[in-house]
Amino acid sequence: MPIWAALFLLWATTEATKDCPAPCTCQALETMGLWVDCRGQGLTSLPSLPAHTRHLLLANNSLRSMPPGALDNLLQLQTLDVTQNPWQCDCSLTYLCLWLEDRTPEALAHVHCASPGLATIHQLDQLIGYELGNCGWQLQAYPEIWWDVALVVVVTIGLALLAGLLCTATESLE
Ligand SMILES: *[C@@H]1O[C@H](CO)[C@@H](O)[C@H](O)[C@H]1NC(C)=O
Repeated sequence: MPIWAALFLLWATTEATKDCPAPCTCQALETMGLWVDCRGQGLTSLPSLPAHTRHLLLANNSLRSMPPGALDNLLQLQTLDVTQNPWQCDCSLTYLCLWLEDRTPEALAHVHCASPGLATIHQLDQLIGYELGNCGWQLQAYPEIWWDVALVVVVTIGLALLAGLLCTATESLE
């Protein structure tokens, strides 16, 4: 390898890893982007991450929650491993849940909840809205009003059909 190439590689690696968060190790791979490996560091909160992080390994830590929007500035993030953490699966985890659902739905099945009670029997992908707590309207598939509307529509159609049937029957009697 020519010396300039070696120097460039060294520069690229240094550049990519200079803002690596303290307990983690970072590796800038040519085609695969920046890997940030924070596995097994006893983390209780998300470290401050380089903006160009592409693969983030957070497995085997003590993470219980992730603030909504925490990953929003990591525009290149593709891989996120959050397994083996004592996630508190309440409403505040909705952000992480939706992030994973959007990008790597298969990863949801490997994330388990440590609390609260009702959620611990499930993987994250099996949790439904109300088990995450009161998260507002966006997690409810069908707000109650639509059931009422549907009922009214069905009853109206039923009555119309019945009326039609009675008319036909009366006409044919005459
Ligand atoms: C998890 O991390 C701890 C250190 O914090 C380590 O001793 C242990 O082997 C790791 N477990 C797994 C399954 O990687």
